[in-house]
Amino acid sequence: MKKKGLIVAVDGHSSTGKSTVSKILAARLGYTYIDTGAMYRIVTLKAMRDGLIRDGKVDDEGLKRVLPTIVFGFKYDEGKRRYESYMDGEYVEAAIRGMDVSGNVSVVAALPYVRELLVEKQREMAREGGVIMDGRDIGSVVFPNAEVKFFMTASPEVRAERRYKELTEKGERVTYEEVEANVRKRDYIDEHRETAPLVRVPDAVLIDNSDMTVEEEVEKMIQIIRSRYESRD
Ligand code: DC
Repeated sequence: MKKKGLIVAVDGHSSTGKSTVSKILAARLGYTYIDTGAMYRIVTLKAMRDGLIRDGKVDDEGLKRVLPTIVFGFKYDEGKRRYESYMDGEYVEAAIRGMDVSGNVSVVAALPYVRELLVEKQREMAREGGVIMDGRDIGSVVFPNAEVKFFMTASPEVRAERRYKELTEKGERVTYEEVEANVRKRDYIDEHRETAPLVRVPDAVLIDNSDMTVEEEVEKMIQIIRSRYESRD
């Protein structure tokens, strides 16, 4: 009988290229890629559109009401060869990646009632195994028993530079300083929040990609995943 695929947790700091490598790993292994950050971004977009975030403060009563009604969708785009995000059936991939959502998402992701619902959905999505799930709390909270865990990081300057390039290529008008400030602020909030803070669990393999190419990184990670898969009962 064919063994069930593994659950691979990819956690780490923002803008470390987690989703880029996770997508490549998923394609190479025939696994499903799940971008949990996109789920927090979708909730943030919904809250912003409904006027439930003002000056960084969330209207909890309002958000608790709309949260269970949000329909999360991830569709694979054959042409672009990537998953794209939908909210209530609407294509929101571009909208959730902009600076305004990025500026509010950490506040939304720190809310325990938001995390509770999304963690439940993430566990459900990975029920069949064979998934690469990227986020902040996958190895610590969502799947503490995941067979393979990675913790990705890179220096804040390297990450800000990559993100700045990505945003300006898409035509967003931002300065490098704004992007670096956003990267550092998100690190701080992610690491210091009370619920499910970003931590490197002891059994996670550390990947610092400040000086690595994507190919080198993918090769290293694939080797680790394959050897864990083979050594599993
Ligand atoms: O990976 P990303 O930058 O798209 O994530 C967006 C935000 O969501 C980020 O500030 C951290 C938060 N997040 C989280 O708290 N837990 C996750 N599992 C994934 C993302």
